[in-house]
Amino acid sequence: MIVRAGAVASRSEPEIRETQSLHTYCVIIINMKKILILGFGNMGMAIAQGIRKNTDSQVHILDPDKNAQAQAKKMKLPHYTQLKELEKLAAEKTLCIILAVKPQHASVLLQELAGLVQKEHRIISIMAGIHSDSIRDMLHTEQIVRFMPTIAAKIAKSVTGIYIRKEAKNKTALKSIAQNVASSFGHFFFFQKESDLAAMTGFSGSGIAFVTAFLDSLINAGLREGIQQPEASQIALRTMQSVCELLLPDSKNQTAFPDPSTLIKAICSPAGTTIEGIKVLKKRSLHTTVREAVHAAKIRAKSIESEFSSKSRRTSKR
Ligand SMILES: NC(=O)c1ccc[n+]([C@@H]2O[C@H](COP(=O)([O-])OP(=O)(O)OC[C@H]3O[C@@H](n4cnc5c(N)ncnc54)[C@H](OP(=O)(O)O)[C@@H]3O)[C@@H](O)[C@H]2O)c1
Repeated sequence: MIVRAGAVASRSEPEIRETQSLHTYCVIIINMKKILILGFGNMGMAIAQGIRKNTDSQVHILDPDKNAQAQAKKMKLPHYTQLKELEKLAAEKTLCIILAVKPQHASVLLQELAGLVQKEHRIISIMAGIHSDSIRDMLHTEQIVRFMPTIAAKIAKSVTGIYIRKEAKNKTALKSIAQNVASSFGHFFFFQKESDLAAMTGFSGSGIAFVTAFLDSLINAGLREGIQQPEASQIALRTMQSVCELLLPDSKNQTAFPDPSTLIKAICSPAGTTIEGIKVLKKRSLHTTVREAVHAAKIRAKSIESEFSSKSRRTSKR
């Protein structure tokens, strides 16, 4: 279940926020001055850019890759190649650690990291298909938040699913930190069940590729009907953008159309052109095809999760 959503924060946002809890107002001091990102690839870099642009936190990078090091240097971010260089940084009690390596590198990294993690540290994992139980087993902490961002973090437009481990202590502070980090690179939605992150992976993370596949089909259809490039691509892209803008709330929280089916009905005049195309999409079961694609991606996310859990259990027993 989605419990809360938000959007890109601004640098001017204060570090002290108010929240309502048990009918009283309390003040949470969000202290996340230093953030360490482990893995400075596509996502690590996008997240670092968002945090740096929109928060006052200092971003540190660990990535042994030469290109990642060069990029960190260019961005003037303190960077390290090995965990043993992190002892001083790891002594900071309020450190927030973002795990942004590929899942296949997670086992080795988490085992080595365990010795540095303190009980006050906050761990944010963006690794797809790695359950928080596996992270807890390896890092011996419950202070874990899982993020499921999208590639659109690169342009601060990620739609990030967030799950805060239910055994975590001081959840309100953890939630504020998660919110501050996620809003620096896009929109976010909180989920109460960790299993919903697998659905989020299929629906939104992989969903970007499914929407792009539809866009690609639309461009091909335009070319087939005689529209030339680059116009065909630009027309399809602008059409898709206009659809989102017709359906998304504006600054006054108003939408031009309340939902996709009302918009479709508004375009489909009886005996008109659109209805003919919609009939084809129905006959070819567009809904079923998309539902099956999202489901297949979700099932794969779940199976990666159980493969990793059983592998990490075997490793920790040795
Ligand atoms: N891309 C997406 O759309 C997306 C969306 C949601 C979640 N995610 C998750 O985000 C994570 C990162 O994905 P990505 O696309 O950013 O991958 P990526 O571009 O391959 O970046 C990962 C970086 O981590 C480095 N690395 C490997 N082992 C390391 C270690 N022990 N310590 C520190 N750094 C290490 C890699 O170096 P080498 O190249 O030398 O191995 C690479 O530079 C993945 O777990 C993925 O599931 C990605």
